[in-house]
Amino acid sequence: MITIALPKGRLGDKTYALLSQAGYGIPAMENVGRKLVIEDEEKGIRYLLVKPADVAVYVEKGAADLGVVGKDILEEEGADVFEVLDLGYGHCHMAVAAKEGYKEDPSRRVRVATKFERIAREYYAARGRDAEFIHLNGSIELAPVLGMSDVIVDIVETGSTLRENHLEVIDRFMEISARLIVNKASYRFHEKEIDGIRRSMKEALG
Ligand code: PRP
Repeated sequence: MITIALPKGRLGDKTYALLSQAGYGIPAMENVGRKLVIEDEEKGIRYLLVKPADVAVYVEKGAADLGVVGKDILEEEGADVFEVLDLGYGHCHMAVAAKEGYKEDPSRRVRVATKFERIAREYYAARGRDAEFIHLNGSIELAPVLGMSDVIVDIVETGSTLRENHLEVIDRFMEISARLIVNKASYRFHEKEIDGIRRSMKEALG
């Protein structure tokens, strides 16, 4: 049996639709309720419904053979998995943003609020910029508005959260979309089945 970890929520809905088009309709998805595991015995596939931020962990640890995850989470987790297909949906980007008109003072350490601390640390380390990180779990845009941070490193999709809080993008640095990932050991043992699923998903994308 092949196990696939799927994200719940927005990315999940698009993923279930794609899988269904690819011939892997999840049985009784409409009345899934609070179930976390769904089995398709006929196809030999088991689906795990998990938090988007946890998909890469399930796949890296081998609890799932395959998973669908945003590139942002993949980078943030630094997951040791194979990334085998760009699914082309869930598009957004990672950016540094600040209050409109913000001028950085290079003589001072920059204060960065983010929930993507690893990505933010790598960004500033690569630029040799001294930075201090404030870890938040959401509503990141509040931090510069309140003067708690100078900038944020966060996801921008439509840009409306920034606009409505009078913030603007300073640097757009990572393009994000949903990716199909594979556990490294599973790929060795189930190469044929995994390649079959990957191919069907790719074809369904058109
Ligand atoms: C994400 C992100 C931004 C917003 C960007 O937050 O952290 O706040 O979406 O989208 P936009 O450019 O279309 O406005 P999310 O909705 O996940 O909520 P959060 O604030 O709880 O992280």
